[in-house]
Amino acid sequence: GKSGYDHYMLKEIHEQPRALRQCLSGRVDERRGEVTLSELEGLETPSAVHLVACGTSYHAALYGVQLFHSLGIPAQAFLASEYATGVPPLGDSLVVGITQSGETADTLSALREARARGARTLAVTNVVGSTAARECDYALYIRAGPEIGVAATKTFSSQLVSLNLLVEYLAGDQRSSEERRAVLQTLRDLPGRVQQVLDESMAEEVAAEYLGADGYFFIGRGLNYPVALEGALKFKEITYEHAEGFAAGELKHGTLALVTENTPVFAVVTGEDAPAKKTLGNVREVESRGAPVIAVTDDDQIERYADASLRVPSGSARVAPVLVNVQLQLVAYWVANALGRSIDKPRNLAKSVTVE
Ligand code: F6R
Repeated sequence: GKSGYDHYMLKEIHEQPRALRQCLSGRVDERRGEVTLSELEGLETPSAVHLVACGTSYHAALYGVQLFHSLGIPAQAFLASEYATGVPPLGDSLVVGITQSGETADTLSALREARARGARTLAVTNVVGSTAARECDYALYIRAGPEIGVAATKTFSSQLVSLNLLVEYLAGDQRSSEERRAVLQTLRDLPGRVQQVLDESMAEEVAAEYLGADGYFFIGRGLNYPVALEGALKFKEITYEHAEGFAAGELKHGTLALVTENTPVFAVVTGEDAPAKKTLGNVREVESRGAPVIAVTDDDQIERYADASLRVPSGSARVAPVLVNVQLQLVAYWVANALGRSIDKPRNLAKSVTVE
């Protein structure tokens, strides 16, 4: 059942702290700086990685790319439907299929193509015994528990955390034990922080304030770019309103022409380093066109530039996207709810897409 929530989606958004604890359970020893992923025994650190996925899982792949890059491992994300049409040179890349259901036809064909060319394959999936899990050489389970709502919520968060585990597992001596301990501590603290976002979110108020706009934009940079895309996808999917996500710096290369006083911009800005400063510059660009700006942020300073803000607890830039995403899920949910949409079963969509 929905345990008192009006929709499975809202229930599943609220299940995220538990889903993440399950994902981490027994896999992380933060004191010793060790990650145990028994299902990956024998998997060696790859020289390069291709990540293939669709939709929300593709956004997890874009995040995963940046984690591999932090290890010095070349990585690329591909839309699964494009990968199968023109497989790029593989070398001895590990091909990672990210698929919550493990049954998405496009992702399965991409993985089959890669296997046919001799690549090692790994499925990152929620479903034990799914086709992807059975067909790949390795399967890493994200352990989010069953997800009924068509819109992926807790499975996306669990994918992001699983990718963190995967990368730390493969890091070998590329990371000092001190660095690894710090990362693992951050992951350990994450479920509590997600709970804090859920408890304190102002997303319902923000949603009410910006109903009826012409369109909604989502911008972010670096690790926050994939969640800007994901925020927009979730928004389109359940509200049926027009929304688009962009790399913050890309907006001025065309899309800025669409920005008016009736297109709210959700600007994801976390951390205090150079990327955040640059995104602030992009915030000013849209403000000077009169667009309302909603900062999704861990920084008090940024609030001065914004018309509204959705706060996340400050801390590691690496996991901030998980926290930010919870706020964006809630905004999409509350807008869809106010518009009376069919939130758990949006029109035209199915939970798992088994045709190419
Ligand atoms: C969006 C959504 C879809 C899926 C996509 C891939 O909320 O759920 O975009 O993410 O169809 O599904 P999986 O991960 O099962 O391969």
